[in-house]
Amino acid sequence: MARKKIALIGAGNIGGTLAHLAAQKELGDVVLFDIAEGIPQGKALDLSQCGPVQGFDAKVTGTNDYADIAGADVIIVTAGVPRKPGMSRDDLLGINLKVMKSVGEGIKAHAPDAFVICITNPLDAMVWALREFSGLPHNKVVGMAGVLDSARFATFLAWEFDVSIRDVNAFVLGGHGDTMVPVVEYSTVSGIPIPDLIKMGKSSKENIDAIVQRTRSGGGEIVGLLKTGSAFYAPAASAISMAEAYLGDQKRILPCAAHLTGQYGVDGLYVGVPAMIGADGIEEVVEIALDDEAKSNLQVSIDAVKELLEACKAIDSSLA
Ligand code: APR
Repeated sequence: MARKKIALIGAGNIGGTLAHLAAQKELGDVVLFDIAEGIPQGKALDLSQCGPVQGFDAKVTGTNDYADIAGADVIIVTAGVPRKPGMSRDDLLGINLKVMKSVGEGIKAHAPDAFVICITNPLDAMVWALREFSGLPHNKVVGMAGVLDSARFATFLAWEFDVSIRDVNAFVLGGHGDTMVPVVEYSTVSGIPIPDLIKMGKSSKENIDAIVQRTRSGGGEIVGLLKTGSAFYAPAASAISMAEAYLGDQKRILPCAAHLTGQYGVDGLYVGVPAMIGADGIEEVVEIALDDEAKSNLQVSIDAVKELLEACKAIDSSLA
């Protein structure tokens, strides 16, 4: 069987980390694409030279030509401009929408059978626009946000309870932004829901509320510290877990920005929900019962995504 091919559109901080992880895990041969000349080629050469040291057998190449992504099985898109301090994800909208147009057209022309994972922000709008521009089926285009957001939530919960990260299962719904909805009731330590742990005196509602807030602004916290860019290690690791779920037909249920067709009362938008990833891409959206508070928080998040889409349509009339 031929080796799988992983194409990474954007060879910046996340793109380079994705390439390293994909090669280390031998997910397939890796093609790094970027409009900046020399960057994807230089990173590919550097990463190729990790192979003999780390003992991985994957070909890593860099390119500025979309023709080189032909036949890709998985494409992960990070092309665009990351957030600078003080800039919201939404400020990025105009710039990154144009980038999605060129990326979508490149994918449509050269790799229309790929499973596409979008990371570029503002995520819920960019994944929708990328799907529109590429014309791929909705089940083959997905946004990475929930795996990262729930990883952030899980990290803070593990610190709070002073337990292994392996025992924490954290659940986040909604858009990737300040309106995301970390769902405390569905988040557990070894299967014990957080509200029960509060009753057991292991934490307090105030502490958990603070953790929820820290999760919501988790990306901004890192931007504020780095000053010259945004998070890249955890975003890359998160997208790789989604790629592995697809390539291995793992039927994992992961929080993703998936296209909804009536689930959660939403039609035609990409919103963060639990979804099954297998060989057919997004195979199922899992609809869970939510209490009133989570429902109204989710609605705020959905409304924020809708607003972003309207802004996209106003910028690019081909999307209207
Ligand atoms: N086509 C291809 N690549 C592009 C294009 C384009 N039209 N426009 C910009 N790029 C490339 C840049 O040259 C750069 O190498 O995208 C890369 C982005 O890399 P970084 O600036 O390092 O950004 P990164 O941290 O990787 O984040 C990328 O993911 O999380 C989101 O908000 C983040 O939208 C941002 C994206």
